[in-house]
Amino acid sequence: MLKEVISKKEILKKIRELARRIDKDYKKEPIILIGTLKGAFIFLADLVRNLKNPNVQIDFVRVRSYGTSDRPSEKVEITKDLEISIEGKNVILVEDIIDTGITLKFLYEHLKKFNPKSLKICTLIDKKERRKVNVPIDYKGFEIEKGFLVGYGLDFAENYRHLPEIKEIIKNE
Ligand code: IMP
Ligand code: MG
Repeated sequence: MLKEVISKKEILKKIRELARRIDKDYKKEPIILIGTLKGAFIFLADLVRNLKNPNVQIDFVRVRSYGTSDRPSEKVEITKDLEISIEGKNVILVEDIIDTGITLKFLYEHLKKFNPKSLKICTLIDKKERRKVNVPIDYKGFEIEKGFLVGYGLDFAENYRHLPEIKEIIKNE
């Protein structure tokens, strides 16, 4: 069963707030927003359309995480890397959800190797319960304690990404 946890209206309100903060921090300075595929595709699309900054570039990376059954997603590898140069640029990494933090930490270290001028992190959802590694989050949409969420880009086995709101999968007892 799916239970709505964040409505379409709440999401868009939060995104407008985040965009306003990003505009305030960078003014008209050029920025590059890097979305993580596939989960962040809708969030990034809505976020950039709310920015007033005229100097915005967009790129995507895609990662795959894998591991053993008792230590899931401990290893991360890039399956699609950057296509534009971020050297000397202001970069914001845009994530859909941070769970253990392993993916984000890996991506953060990876992007740092390209010597950006600055590197910040923006996530729509910060899911706290299973955090293993800490990463500095500069722009955060929502904090959620636990639960498996779908919709607004987030999937369960590739389903539900298209839903306009965020829902939790509730297992029937
Ligand atoms: P982390 O490395 O554990 O932080 O995992 C982050 C990735 O796991 C996200 O980018 C999502 O692809 C996936 N993920 C973690 N929690 C959820 C969830 O509640 N719903 C959908 N995907 C999730
Ligand atoms: Mg995913």
